[in-house]
Amino acid sequence: MKIRKVIVPVGGLGTRFLPATKAIPKEMLPVVDRPLIQYAVEEAWAAGAEHVIFVTSRGKKSIEDHFDHFPELEELLSLRGKVDMLQSATDMIPEAGRIHYTRQSHPLGLGHAIWCARELVGDEPFAIILPDDLIHARKPVLQQMTEGFQKVRAPMIAVMEVEQQETSKYGIVAVEEEKNALMRVRSMVEKPAPQEAPSRLAIIGRYILTPEIFDILGDQEEGRQGEIQLTDAMAGLLKRQVIYAYRFQGTRYDCGDNAGYLMANLALAMERPALAERLIPFLKKFPLNGESSSS
Ligand code: G1P
Repeated sequence: MKIRKVIVPVGGLGTRFLPATKAIPKEMLPVVDRPLIQYAVEEAWAAGAEHVIFVTSRGKKSIEDHFDHFPELEELLSLRGKVDMLQSATDMIPEAGRIHYTRQSHPLGLGHAIWCARELVGDEPFAIILPDDLIHARKPVLQQMTEGFQKVRAPMIAVMEVEQQETSKYGIVAVEEEKNALMRVRSMVEKPAPQEAPSRLAIIGRYILTPEIFDILGDQEEGRQGEIQLTDAMAGLLKRQVIYAYRFQGTRYDCGDNAGYLMANLALAMERPALAERLIPFLKKFPLNGESSSS
């Protein structure tokens, strides 16, 4: 029951970051000094995964290049003795055959993107990481979940509490025993209006699912926003299997949103003493509550 394969959907257009994302994928935008996508892939390896499956679309070629060697650059860095730089450019390149790519040719939704990877996953439980949800945690969240999965051996989705007015941005779950870390899901709904939301527990982009989901996705009708929704398919799976919601430990940054992306940059930069030392005095110069804090 080991989770060997992780699907990372990267087909989205990244319209919220235009014009930055006109010619480069949003997943290649840097958080401090690494592209967003690298955090997702590192989380997959940390959880013991052996294969990462990217579901891409047109214009995402730089993601492939990022996880590959660049011989001229490596030669130059090595000639110049830039050992640290060489390491940072090569350490993250996985062994050949560990990263796989498949294309989602039409933007039909997250559920459809996952279904596109069905042949590469085959008949075994697998995980999904949505790279926009960057989660900073002592123990990577997917690792927290794979450990939990070994105990309960049932599909599991990461959740966190959000403000009532934010429910329309997320899949929302209703659970039994809302106070626990691991909760049995009773129902789920994609992006409900605040007054219709069954709870404030939102699905965050980490999932462990069983291959039965692919059959359901294959017949899934369009849902919210006219797209094939993964949440709707999981609601179908819930009729056949127990699904757990897992309240993870860590801080999540919504890197699909401009403010969330900037917060991730700041928070992760503050973890590095050399950067924090320069950023803190700089940030103090900005007026807070209309007053200058530097005076
Ligand atoms: C997707 C899912 C949603 C989930 C969210 C988490 O929505 O459809 O259920 O809550 O990711 O980030 P998206 O943000 O792609 O619209």
